Amino acid sequence: MTIGIDKISFHVPDYYLDMTDLAHARETDPAKFHIGLGQDQMALIPKTQDIITLGASAAAKILTADDKKMIDMVIVGTESSTDFSKSAAVTIHKLLDIQPFARSFEIKHACYGGTAALQQARDYVAAHPDRKVLVIAADIAKYGLHSGGEPTQGCGAVAMLVTKNPHLLAFNNDSVFYSEDVYDFWRPAGHDYPLVDGHLSNQIYIDSFTRIWEQNKKINQTTSSDYAALTFHLPYTKMGRKALRAIFPEMSETEQQRLETRYDEAIIYSRQVGNLYTGSLYLGLASLLDNSKLAAGERIGLFSYGSGAVSEFFSMTLMEDYQQYLSIEENQLLLSKRKRLSITEYEEMFAEKLPTDGKTYTFSDPTKFAINKISDNIRYYNK
Ligand code: HMG
Repeated sequence: MTIGIDKISFHVPDYYLDMTDLAHARETDPAKFHIGLGQDQMALIPKTQDIITLGASAAAKILTADDKKMIDMVIVGTESSTDFSKSAAVTIHKLLDIQPFARSFEIKHACYGGTAALQQARDYVAAHPDRKVLVIAADIAKYGLHSGGEPTQGCGAVAMLVTKNPHLLAFNNDSVFYSEDVYDFWRPAGHDYPLVDGHLSNQIYIDSFTRIWEQNKKINQTTSSDYAALTFHLPYTKMGRKALRAIFPEMSETEQQRLETRYDEAIIYSRQVGNLYTGSLYLGLASLLDNSKLAAGERIGLFSYGSGAVSEFFSMTLMEDYQQYLSIEENQLLLSKRKRLSITEYEEMFAEKLPTDGKTYTFSDPTKFAINKISDNIRYYNK
């Protein structure tokens, strides 16, 4: 039986910061951000939006009334949860009117959570072929103003519907995993922002990729020529490129160029969004599908990395006529219609937080699913 991603969509808020503006404000050469990190813009989120609004907005674009009757599980992969106990998934389940006899829960391991959710969805559909699973990877990457990680922030959500006989991509059941207990990036309870050893994190990312790539070649008996494209978790777009180049010595120059061209197509959206942690790999996948000319039957490799560190490499095969099921114009419009904020506006938005004193406050953000009230520390959303 073929199981895979039937539909994919993403959502980012209506605001962004231009990386040249950030560079000027931080007295840095803009080329460091645009070329050194490979980032042009960074998505910004107001306090009236969170991973629930991002996730619900992404999923609402792809779900039909029939899908909502067939979904048995809503899994949210995130490391930006709004609650230590209640999951974002159960609120999204309500906002989207998914049939009530469903499981809804959150799943976590840094940026790897979305992949854990996706693989769990695959296993569920394998056991229940007529049912569907909604997977959401949603995060808000915030390191702090003036911090080393500041130019690698971002936010957004990717939603994927996992079904049998998918329209877009089929799993090949060839996952290879790797775990290493390391402190490259972590966020202990009580910390608003992660603690990060940036340069160590870059090194662990590359080492994890090269190890898992070797293991993949051994177990699945493949070489780079078996993949039409290799996609990567994208904390900033230079990161995946460095990992890709780490395996260049085993390829011909033509092969290197082919994979680097596909890589450039896969980072078009992330250059404009920044890091969305769990969703980053899948925003890269969406960018590749929208911007590459690939053929049905071709295989795409996906490298998922979550600091701490867990990684997975697996592949998916493109389905017949997959192009008909993409929303290229809608995706491009979502990014192009956003408002560019000044540095002052960005810093003000960054500092704003929802009150936590339990009193009642109302808000007037007209955005679909935005928070319109908080009372007794319960968030209420536009529907
Ligand atoms: P930094 O010290 O600001 O930057 O840290 P740098 O000095 O390393 O420079 C960055 C690059 O810009 C270098 O390129 C420079 O040469 C280049 P590289 O040598 O690496 O190829 N550069 C320039 N290029 C052109 N013109 C110039 C110029 N100046 C310098 N004028 C760092 C950068 C990414 C470490 C920092 O921003 C950070 O700590 N970010 C957060 C951590 C991170 O994103 N790590 C990535 C791997 S871990 C991961 O992916 C997991 C994660 O998503 C979390 C999770 O799993 O939940 C983060």
